[in-house]
Amino acid sequence: MAARRAALQAAAVALALCAAGIGATPAARGAGCRKHVRRVTEYGAVGDGRTLNTKAFVRAVADLGRRAGDGGAALVVPAGRWLTGPFNLTSHFTLFLHRGAEILASQDLDDWPLIAPLPSYGRGRDEPGPRYSNFIGGSNLTDVIISGYNGTINGQGQVWWDKFHAKQLDYTRGYLLELLYSRDIIISNVTFVDAPSWNLHPTYCTNVTISGVTILAPVHSPNTDGIDPDSSSHVKIEDCYIVSGDDCIAVKSGWDEYGIRFNMPSQHIVVRRLTCISPTSAMIALGSEMSGGIQDVRVEDNIAINTESAVRIKSGVGRGGFVRDVFVRRLSLHTMKWVFWMTGNYGQHPDNSSDPKALPEVTGINYRDVFAENVTMAGRMEGIPNDPYTGICMSNVTAQLAPKAKKLQWNCTDVQGVAYGVSPEPCPELGAEGKPCTFPEEELVIGPPELPKCTY
Ligand SMILES: *[C@@H]1O[C@H](CO)[C@@H](O)[C@H](O)[C@H]1NC(C)=O
Ligand SMILES: *[C@@H]1O[C@H](CO)[C@@H](O)[C@H](O)[C@H]1NC(C)=O
Ligand SMILES: *[C@@H]1O[C@H](CO)[C@@H](O)[C@H](O)[C@H]1NC(C)=O
Ligand SMILES: *[C@@H]1O[C@H](CO)[C@@H](O)[C@H](O)[C@H]1NC(C)=O
Ligand SMILES: *[C@@H]1O[C@H](CO)[C@@H](O)[C@H](O)[C@H]1NC(C)=O
Ligand SMILES: *[C@@H]1O[C@H](CO)[C@@H](O)[C@H](O)[C@H]1NC(C)=O
Ligand SMILES: *[C@@H]1O[C@H](CO)[C@@H](O)[C@H](O)[C@H]1NC(C)=O
Ligand SMILES: *[C@@H]1O[C@H](CO)[C@@H](O)[C@H](O)[C@H]1NC(C)=O
Ligand SMILES: *[C@@H]1O[C@H](CO)[C@@H](O)[C@H](O)[C@H]1NC(C)=O
Repeated sequence: MAARRAALQAAAVALALCAAGIGATPAARGAGCRKHVRRVTEYGAVGDGRTLNTKAFVRAVADLGRRAGDGGAALVVPAGRWLTGPFNLTSHFTLFLHRGAEILASQDLDDWPLIAPLPSYGRGRDEPGPRYSNFIGGSNLTDVIISGYNGTINGQGQVWWDKFHAKQLDYTRGYLLELLYSRDIIISNVTFVDAPSWNLHPTYCTNVTISGVTILAPVHSPNTDGIDPDSSSHVKIEDCYIVSGDDCIAVKSGWDEYGIRFNMPSQHIVVRRLTCISPTSAMIALGSEMSGGIQDVRVEDNIAINTESAVRIKSGVGRGGFVRDVFVRRLSLHTMKWVFWMTGNYGQHPDNSSDPKALPEVTGINYRDVFAENVTMAGRMEGIPNDPYTGICMSNVTAQLAPKAKKLQWNCTDVQGVAYGVSPEPCPELGAEGKPCTFPEEELVIGPPELPKCTY
């Protein structure tokens, strides 16, 4: 009896330790759980909201980067307000934010070094030349997790927005999180607020999972896009909540001649169960920077509230590239200016070397099972003269009009496609068709089968 009780007790202790993530081997603790765990306080950080902790974060990542080959490492950020300048991440690494942990970006521009522009953009997006560092960055990384119990990464962007509006910035604003040339990324259970510009910018990355993430920025803050997969493939965005001053999601792939030359598409992208509020922008934009091409984008089960348009295509002469094989289903939309919006004359070029003969190819854009209410105009569909957007399909679409809806519900130029069961009656450019639009049967497999549940 006693032996049995002891054995049970040992098992219970082992279980408790395992649940607490202590003493177990990485394998026993599950994929993605790290062997080496350090708190940022161990590197001298002070969470009082005033002490500048850049050195602590940089030292921590450098130190923990040395454990990459030995089970990896987690940097734990406890409750508190941790002010810091920009820092980079490392491989086989977890940044884990406890409940009540807030990493605050320094508002002193002197803390933000300049870095090279992206090769697929040729220059900074706001201004020519180099750009301010991203707040959290990383290049050529493998196996990175940013997670926790819904702690916050706060870009404290007000100072950047003010300077941007006043045209006082000589260089492009940094993004809140940008990973370059990286793979096997998980971002989950964290909140990003008040980014200086775009929030999450996975660029030249593959196998990226973004899940259970909250992104908040004032709806009039400039260019605070939520998530911008850029020249990246196998990206899954699910169960996210985004309120922003620009597109909740913008899939991109480089800018005009730089993007054409770099030639890296964004492809195999899944966006599901997103809730978006963006009164002056799209729930999901494809472009406008799409010069490396965008293909195989699957969007389903999303909600948008008080958002300008749903899944918008933005392109123009000079962009080159393509947008094709886009599949959208089961959208629930409340208060929309345009349910469908395609733009063929999007301006903004990196310089005056854009090739006027570089025409984008836009084809195979499928929307089905869309319900929208309080809609001002159902469709504003503008392709490019002599370069029409083709293969557009819409089926089972209901747009209920707002009291002050436009008289003209569809305005279609340089577009071709089919429609089936669409109300209000679409423009003649969308000819009659007797069947629902396609959505791929087979799911894309992206990321791990389950998110790691690690306790640090
Ligand atoms: C982060 O990495 C980039 C290269 O990817 C580099 O230019 C930058 O200086 C690094 N920033 C910091 C703060 O180490
Ligand atoms: C990262 O990889 C890219 C592409 O392979 C390479 O051009 C670049 O120099 C690498 N950057 C760093 C910081 O190692
Ligand atoms: C995470 O925190 C944000 C901001 O405080 C909040 O809006 C959101 O509901 C929280 N998410 C969860 C799952 O608790
Ligand atoms: C994608 O990354 C996850 C970890 O985030 C890993 O478990 C999975 O094996 C990777 N898949 C591929 C195809 O590389
Ligand atoms: C093109 O841009 C360059 C550099 O911005 C400028 O010097 C040049 O005058 C421009 N050329 C034209 C034709 O606008
Ligand atoms: C049409 O779309 C609505 C969602 O807007 C959905 O509930 C309904 O089942 C769809 N009808 C068909 C026949 O698929
Ligand atoms: C309907 O949309 C208008 C803007 O077109 C907005 O002012 C109004 O509040 C919306 N009504 C509801 C019930 O959401
Ligand atoms: C319809 O769209 C075309 C092309 O964008 C535009 O020139 C025209 O003014 C629009 N018509 C109306 C009535 O809004
Ligand atoms: C993230 O939150 C979800 C839902 O609250 C939870 O099931 C999951 O275990 C959390 N993940 C981590 C890594 O804590």
